[in-house]
Amino acid sequence: MREKLLIVDDERMILELTSMVLSSKGFDVSVVDNASESYGLIEREQPALVLLDYMMPKVNGLDALIEMRARFPETYVIMFTGKGSEEVAVELMKAGAADYILKPFSNAKLVERIENVLHIRSIELRNKELVREQGELHAEIERWNRELEERVEHKTTELERAHHEILLTEKLAALGHLSAGMAHEIRNPLNSISLFAQVMSAGLEKEPEMRSYSDKIINEVERIDAILVKLLSTSKRSPFQLRTVHIDDIIEKSLQPFLEQMRVQGVVLHKHLPQQTPSILADADELGQVFSNLFSNALFEMKQGGTLSVSLEHDDKDVLMTVGDTGGGIPEEHLHNIFDPFFTTKERGTGFGLSVVLRIVKTYAGRINVVSEPGQGTTFQIWLPLV
Ligand SMILES: Nc1ncnc2c1ncn2[C@@H]1O[C@H](COP(=O)(O)OP(=O)(O)O)[C@@H](O)[C@H]1O
Ligand SMILES: [Mg+2]
Repeated sequence: MREKLLIVDDERMILELTSMVLSSKGFDVSVVDNASESYGLIEREQPALVLLDYMMPKVNGLDALIEMRARFPETYVIMFTGKGSEEVAVELMKAGAADYILKPFSNAKLVERIENVLHIRSIELRNKELVREQGELHAEIERWNRELEERVEHKTTELERAHHEILLTEKLAALGHLSAGMAHEIRNPLNSISLFAQVMSAGLEKEPEMRSYSDKIINEVERIDAILVKLLSTSKRSPFQLRTVHIDDIIEKSLQPFLEQMRVQGVVLHKHLPQQTPSILADADELGQVFSNLFSNALFEMKQGGTLSVSLEHDDKDVLMTVGDTGGGIPEEHLHNIFDPFFTTKERGTGFGLSVVLRIVKTYAGRINVVSEPGQGTTFQIWLPLV
């Protein structure tokens, strides 16, 4: 390949002679007699090398050198300088000249210097190319690494979630077994206590104070019994009837008992139910229980007002139902426990609500997720399969 050279010198003689010599040595030579025209030429021709005269009228050779180096970094520049200006030469090298040649020069020396600079240039350019390729490789490796990390992370959270769900299901099963047995055993003696207390009550008509005590016993027994019934319901499915139900109807029906509480607390309702809601095969009361429990928790969090959001959407596989509030949110450290039976942060809570929700969702082969931002609110998402 013939290397392109450009000679920039105001002396016609030099231009002609040098170009003759260099052409005969196999270079592809262009010439121009002033610096200002040289830039356009360099831009078009992209010569490997410029031979630039330092002493020219109009444009200072140093300025021209600086401009060329800045605009065309791949074009190298050899400067012609007059004898006795070695100090200038140092300055030129600092400004980016590849070499300098003192005028007058011998042809042999000129060619030798040019070939030398071209050799260095080709090595430096190749080097730059390698550095660039290396950088690209690094970037690519980094991209792969990141992708891999993301995939591992994704799999890990998926595994963690699956593991957590298995744990919950096992817990629920164990608890179901235990509590069903216990509740049954306890309800029998409770029943006797209640009966005896009722007999006592009847016989204490003339002693109002004593009578009020036995009535209290009856009330407390009823309270214990109600807790046991609830406990049973967290673990055991009550009699159910599967029917084709419209989820929006169930939502509307479950909302009814809460409307008055919402009005009193100043809670606004945001409902996003699509025109055509999907229907699924379910027990309406059971599914209604899910919403009632979620609404009850949400409203508990919004005693000073807020927004209750209920939404419903679906694709051809699942229906996604969400219930969101703008209450206090759930602290991160509680997130793993809220579905546990008995877990409650309320003074008068039972901790059954969400475990019932979870059991019902599982019954329908669904999935539940909670997103909560302490201080901002909480949203429960429930997916149920459509078939
Ligand atoms: N919407 C909610 N916002 C904030 N915390 C909630 C919400 N829902 C549930 N929780 C937390 O989960 C706990 C368990 O709820 P749940 O099982 O319904 O039992 P309970 O309501 O009787 O406490 C609550 O005590 C509360 O700490
Ligand atoms: Mg509750």
